[in-house]
Amino acid sequence: MKKIAVLGHGVVGSGVLTVLEKNRSQVERALGEPVEVKYILDRRAFPGLPYSDRFVRDFSPIRDDPEIAAVAEALGGVEPAFTFAKECLSRGKSFVTSNKELVAEKGDILLALAQEHGARFLFEASVAGGTPVIGPIRRSLGADRILQVAGILNGTTNFILTKMLREGATLESALALAQKLGYAERDPSADLEGRDACRKLCILASLAFGSHFYPADVPTRGIAEVTPRDAAYAARWGGAVKLIARARRTAGGRAALEVSPMLVPGDSLLAGVGDVYNAVLVTGDMAGDVLFYGRGAGSLPTASAVAGDLIEALSGRREAAPAWGPAEPGLLLPPEEAPCRGYFRTAGLDREGLSLFFPGAFFLEPLEAGEEALITPLATRGELDAAARAAGAAGARILSAFPVL
Ligand code: HSE
Repeated sequence: MKKIAVLGHGVVGSGVLTVLEKNRSQVERALGEPVEVKYILDRRAFPGLPYSDRFVRDFSPIRDDPEIAAVAEALGGVEPAFTFAKECLSRGKSFVTSNKELVAEKGDILLALAQEHGARFLFEASVAGGTPVIGPIRRSLGADRILQVAGILNGTTNFILTKMLREGATLESALALAQKLGYAERDPSADLEGRDACRKLCILASLAFGSHFYPADVPTRGIAEVTPRDAAYAARWGGAVKLIARARRTAGGRAALEVSPMLVPGDSLLAGVGDVYNAVLVTGDMAGDVLFYGRGAGSLPTASAVAGDLIEALSGRREAAPAWGPAEPGLLLPPEEAPCRGYFRTAGLDREGLSLFFPGAFFLEPLEAGEEALITPLATRGELDAAARAAGAAGARILSAFPVL
């Protein structure tokens, strides 16, 4: 019998209890012995549950109990999760988390600590909810140099964009539904502004490049600037607008990271990903393109990933080396040097005038007189910004500007 603790009884923490209870025999079969939840840490009381007697408000009994072999954390936020993680790992207790902020900010430190003390620090649930992506990149693609990771990594915004585009829902009503379904963050601005996707991107990029990337260093835009008109132009082009998180290895070996709404071509595997689904397209230098697709948020899918990590942590297997190390100075490419094609929606300047600033651009059929929508050839972000500024000075109003995937 293995004994564990669960930190937090919110959407994910309560889901972990459900998975371990409902699939008790499956978990026992996978691990070879049963798992018992001895403690649940939460400030709130939950009377009337079959496990109400296991709630504690203080972390120290968990930390000091030698029977606790692993701790599953679903509190969210860097603190107190970071302190709890350090206290567990330094005592040889494995720490499993769905907390992307913790991993994106402190992953390198916690991985090193786990290694030092023969414990595991696992975080499959921190990216793409119930969709396995960390384990497959870490293990199955372990012999590949990862050239690119591009994904739809936020279920809430994908759900909102899908509702807005397919059903004409407002952002507010779609967000309210996402909150009700347990998809959104406690502070939903982290979803809407792209910060949640950015944290997940940093985790994937750290894994792909072997050194830590911090969210504060990654250019990040949310979905606020996406209009139904942009979606209509994307559809006219045969594609879709999606919030994309992308990390690319450049020819010089540097890392180009960004989170932004992007025009996704219709033949991309990411174009048709809707609702709360996430998808992560990983390109390895040997394996080529590999797509991971599944539910990116929600109680049971996320809890499924936490429970899978618990089984792995309790199995007694050890990592041969940490998944990544500290940040490598100079690895991140400055955003203005990143190559991409650009989508611009403009008014106030005709095609002929725009072509002077965007040579070789492909113009979409306008949806309204006086408006133009164009897609540029490949350029650097700095060149595209300079072209848009010059077009603006010549009388063009830039109504929307997004990269093309
Ligand atoms: N708010 C997150 C999302 C939850 O919508 O993707 C899962 O990380």
